[in-house]
Amino acid sequence: MDERIAEQWDTNAEVFANLIDGTGTPHHREILNPCVDCLLGDVNGKKLLDAGCGEGYLSRYYAHKGAVVTGVDMSRKLIDICMKTTAQEEVSYRVGNICNLHFISDSEFDLVLCNLVLLNIACLQESLSEFSRVLRPGGILVFSLVHPAFNVYGPGSWEMGEKDPKTRRRAGKYFKVDRYFDEKEYLRYWRSRKGEKFPKQFSFYHRTISTYVNALVSTGFSLVSLKEPRPVSDNAFFDRERRIPFFLVFKAEKT
Ligand SMILES: C[S@@+](CC[C@H](N)C(=O)[O-])C[C@H]1O[C@@H](n2cnc3c(N)ncnc32)[C@H](O)[C@@H]1O
Repeated sequence: MDERIAEQWDTNAEVFANLIDGTGTPHHREILNPCVDCLLGDVNGKKLLDAGCGEGYLSRYYAHKGAVVTGVDMSRKLIDICMKTTAQEEVSYRVGNICNLHFISDSEFDLVLCNLVLLNIACLQESLSEFSRVLRPGGILVFSLVHPAFNVYGPGSWEMGEKDPKTRRRAGKYFKVDRYFDEKEYLRYWRSRKGEKFPKQFSFYHRTISTYVNALVSTGFSLVSLKEPRPVSDNAFFDRERRIPFFLVFKAEKT
């Protein structure tokens, strides 16, 4: 297991769980989650692996929708939080590395969800190979990223204007993109809802969109759908996210 990455998530586990606050951030709730929900479809009675489950809110959500959920995360501290907030019979959690799921047999799952995780790991190819192995033929993988072309945790950033007194958010003048083809690790601090820095920086691995698509194809998947979800409400807070996609979401089928 990559101890360095696990340590980042362990150190930040509590502040991360506070940020997620049981249902996700506004970006998750109003942009990403409705799209993921739609791509996963009816989960009732299906075996779902939540790969890189974090503090577990999506594991709980899909268990409540009738899926039989296993949540795996490399952070012991986040799995402890999952276990505290979920009744044991609802979801089975374990500490593990999604790049080597040796504790899961072949073809065990109908669905794999990997929400906002692959941009945080170095072993993209290995994780997709493992998802392919643990899915039954015809099984579905849904994974999401911060959009690699407009990645605020990578080479891009907004040129900011004044703070809007209504939304309390700074206006975006335009988005600056450079070094898109340089695939490399960026270290970035996240901030709490109050704007305080997390204790430790996270690793983000910037990759091009073609790298993700080609990795999928080479690990036995066919691409079913690619989405750049827009905000579902007309909330003025999301002016920037209505101009440029914040997330990119893949649905692929194991062939
Ligand atoms: C941005 S969080 C997303 C958590 C959750 N999927 C969600 O949507 O809230 C990324 C998660 O991936 C986990 N992670 C990173 N690398 C991993 C790996 N190689 N194996 C398992 N989990 C990993 C981290 O511990 C963290 O919980």
